[in-house]
Amino acid sequence: MSFFSAVVVTVSDRSYRGQRPDEAGPLVAELLREAGYTVVRTALVPDEQSQIAHILEEIADSGTVDLLVTTGGTGFSPRDVTPEATLSVCDRLAPGLPEAMRYASLQITPRAMLSRAQAGIRGGTLIVNLPGSPKAARENLEAVLPTLSHGLEMLS
Ligand code: MTE
Repeated sequence: MSFFSAVVVTVSDRSYRGQRPDEAGPLVAELLREAGYTVVRTALVPDEQSQIAHILEEIADSGTVDLLVTTGGTGFSPRDVTPEATLSVCDRLAPGLPEAMRYASLQITPRAMLSRAQAGIRGGTLIVNLPGSPKAARENLEAVLPTLSHGLEMLS
């Protein structure tokens, strides 16, 4: 069980426009709560690099959030820019997390190699990208969730 604070940011043009309900964000929040995290905020932004970077910075710089998880925008579509926004705001990278997510996910589907998810640290906040479908978000999060709290302990 962990006792860290978390924020979930869904990145999706269609959900932002109200054309598709956001299912992955609430699912990720629920999985984090079950693991003992206090989910202090959820947010929904379109696939715009500047808007994604802005909300990541705002949340990390609040100084109150241990873990920031994004879902969506990690694929190959021209609008998929969550990894670039994440890289632009991180002070240090944590490549082992996406390596572990892709390693675990490749046992489930070869399409796991199509996720460009990144993870890194800004100040005291760990930022982790997940893919956008609820299935992929769950499978990727479950690959790293048991180990995240040890990393967060080192960060605090
Ligand atoms: N990882 C797991 N575990 N399960 C999946 O079904 N889908 C893949 C990949 N990672 C998938 C997965 C697919 S099809 C894509 S396109 C990429 O994640 C990126 O997804 P995104 O564009 O929704 O972020």
